[in-house]
Amino acid sequence: MTFILIKTIHLFAAFIYGGFLIVDNLFLVHIEKSFDEKEYKKIRESFMKYVRKVVPPSLLIAVLTGLYLITQVFGSISEEGMSSFQMMLSMKAFLGIWLGIRGFAQVYLGIQPLVFKSHVLPFAFVITILFLSQFMYV
Ligand code: HEM
Repeated sequence: MTFILIKTIHLFAAFIYGGFLIVDNLFLVHIEKSFDEKEYKKIRESFMKYVRKVVPPSLLIAVLTGLYLITQVFGSISEEGMSSFQMMLSMKAFLGIWLGIRGFAQVYLGIQPLVFKSHVLPFAFVITILFLSQFMYV
């Protein structure tokens, strides 16, 4: 029961975090082309002030619940080495933890990323994580 509950919270948090990145990179980005810089900044801030309250905590919840889930499903590594499930899950965990550290440093410590400052990198990672989260069972 605990596993399913934590996994549901994991999926919910991943949907909020990933959902914002998908909407931001595929749709909201076009607002910039239709308004001048000053107007665009005002429009973006009108929703980002709410995004900042919800999306960073969702990312941290996705990572923390993921850390619990991985302890329940990873299993032991056989003498032949890691299975394809374990390898893909490890890659998924690595990308997720990277996003978690990057997001925490940026939002809560005010440390800006050195490279890839936009939402394109997290977007690319989330798409990769979504594919890994399905293909790891193949
Ligand atoms: C931050 C971005 C993350 C996103 C968007 C994400 C997304 C997902 C999705 C969509 C699934 C569902 C797969 C399914 O059952 O169909 C899943 C499962 C899982 N995630 Fe994540 N995840 C993230 C981070 C993490 C991290 C950091 C870890 C580990 C440290 C992790 C560990 C797991 C595990 C172990 C499962 C599989 C649970 C099972 O076998 O039923 N996730 N994740």
